[in-house]
Amino acid sequence: METKYYDVTKEINETELAEITSLLNDGEVVAVPTETVYGLAADARNEQAVQKIFKAKGRPSDNPLIVHVATKKQLYTLTTNVPNYVDDLLDAFSPGPITYVLQKANDIAPSVTAGLQTIGIRIPNHPIAQAILSYSNLPLAAPSANLSGRPSPTKAKHVAEDLTGKISAIVDGGSTTVGLESTVLDCTGDVPCILRPGMVTFDDIVSVVGACDIYEKKQTDKPKSPGLKYTHYAPNVPLLLVAKDKIAPTIQTEQDKGKRIALLYHSKEVATIEATVYIDLGTNEATIAKNLYAALRDSEKKNVDMIVCEMPQKQLIKTALFDRLSRAATQIIE
Ligand code: TXA
Ligand code: MG
Repeated sequence: METKYYDVTKEINETELAEITSLLNDGEVVAVPTETVYGLAADARNEQAVQKIFKAKGRPSDNPLIVHVATKKQLYTLTTNVPNYVDDLLDAFSPGPITYVLQKANDIAPSVTAGLQTIGIRIPNHPIAQAILSYSNLPLAAPSANLSGRPSPTKAKHVAEDLTGKISAIVDGGSTTVGLESTVLDCTGDVPCILRPGMVTFDDIVSVVGACDIYEKKQTDKPKSPGLKYTHYAPNVPLLLVAKDKIAPTIQTEQDKGKRIALLYHSKEVATIEATVYIDLGTNEATIAKNLYAALRDSEKKNVDMIVCEMPQKQLIKTALFDRLSRAATQIIE
């Protein structure tokens, strides 16, 4: 299959919007930028189109997709029994990097929700995603636009690496600004519950609703968010998440065995430790989040035997950033 490429990094014009919309209306799959990561989009009402998403990604069919819409009104037409607090959350955080899990109404292709009675809905705030959603007036099912098990794509070239020849088009809107996937918030109960942490934090939600739970899987539970049972990102090479003062000895031990090490750092002192390849993640949580997935993909390409990533400071431990890093890590050295 030929994969069309639309460079809309400066702006998107009407001809491009019309072409992308007609691909989507024809049941084709198109990668589009959002503020979090690139999404692999298809008409959420079209079962065959949605099947193409699962096929292209190699995604397990029991892992439901997030549906993206342009407006609050559309969110309400796709859902039912929405608790009052959701309206306050929508006012505070949407459009933005948060997905609401709600009771589903109708009209959505069955495989989108993977047999669940709930649906995850997000109103993205990326101008290109908004333009495509508004112009097409479609609800778009879209998981992250990577092959299952790869880091989510934060640039169009990451999508191209994973999916060229497997999807109809890639819309290049430049680097995504958030860099980590949205907060997934279960809003089917009296109190919202975070299923996947994201840049809309526990404290942000508490400040609006007054209360919030954080889902913790017990060994015996069927996970509430099916995606949680899959490794988010399984690196091609081992990834060690290492506390700052343990980095030098850890790298020394590995280098003594002849290993080539990519060092992902954020502190200046760590950048002076001897390694093979250095990748600067930036200095604060927002920049580290924005750079992380690209850094993981870049390190794999540098032909190293191991990735050593500096552990974020303690105060970030409960964040999305720490969540993604610890899921990706093959070992954590504190
Ligand atoms: O930022 C994002 O959320 C990106 C962009 C493209 O919007 N999308 C994304 O999709 O990360 P995906 O498919 O990679 O992750 C969606 C997560 C999965 O863990 C899935 O299990 C969960 O959301 N999810 C979707 N629908 C759900 C539902 N009805 N109930 C519980 N979890 C759900
Ligand atoms: Mg994903």
